Amino acid sequence: MSATGSFIVTIDGPAGTGKSTVAHRLAKRLGLEFLDTGAMYRAAALEALDRGIDLTDGEAIAQLVREIELRFDWKSDPPELLVDGKPVGERIRTPQVTKAVSFVASNPMVRAAMVVSQRKIASLHRRLVTEGRDQGSVVFADADVRIYLDARPEIRAGRRVEQLRAKGIVTTESEVLAQIIERDRMDSSRRDGPLICPRGADVVDTSDIHIDEVIDRLEEIVRRRAGAALVESACEGSGERACEGSCEGHADGNRA
Ligand code: DC
Repeated sequence: MSATGSFIVTIDGPAGTGKSTVAHRLAKRLGLEFLDTGAMYRAAALEALDRGIDLTDGEAIAQLVREIELRFDWKSDPPELLVDGKPVGERIRTPQVTKAVSFVASNPMVRAAMVVSQRKIASLHRRLVTEGRDQGSVVFADADVRIYLDARPEIRAGRRVEQLRAKGIVTTESEVLAQIIERDRMDSSRRDGPLICPRGADVVDTSDIHIDEVIDRLEEIVRRRAGAALVESACEGSGERACEGSCEGHADGNRA
């Protein structure tokens, strides 16, 4: 924990590594709050669609992000995103928004506005697990604990196919794999907020381990990095099982 009393755990990594679920569960286990930055990008995309803003007009969308109030209802679980005080609900998860958000998130001006918004949230909610591809590398580069979740592209493709199937969308694994490989290439070569493994991050590969074990390993990392005192106090009231596993992450995360 820093002298200012803030404590931030960042979880970066590509899509399909289970970041959101893992971050949410880890936050609960540690008694920290959970910040879903993907939801913020999705809300910006939804607002842009609703207002008929051209998705390629970065300045207009950045202005939108600066104007709207993005805040979470921290009493709901997981915290629900409110735009100008109104809950956005599942409207940010539609295929239309999912498609639009990739334009929105690739714009440097939008990203800069979002970084300001995320840091503002962290200044008010000082004990956080925050999840998103640039959290440990850009937004909270001096976070107390930085974790990079990874998984082999084939595994991530398989998970995505399952998710789509659950929604009644039929697709082939090879098609999804090709999309994932292309998206990784674009994400890692992006000039602004590229998908990289933050310096000094602990890398956890989720390809062959059950999500429960991923949470155990992450909690062990946080204990080791932050000291037992914080985790002991933060664990109070947590519904999660205590960590028994050991971390196999790389102390010097430079894999991306
Ligand atoms: O994690 P998600 O699918 O809800 O994220 C939505 C989109 O926003 C996705 O295209 C990745 C992008 N994103 C980003 O660029 N930076 C973040 N910190 C979080 C999400």
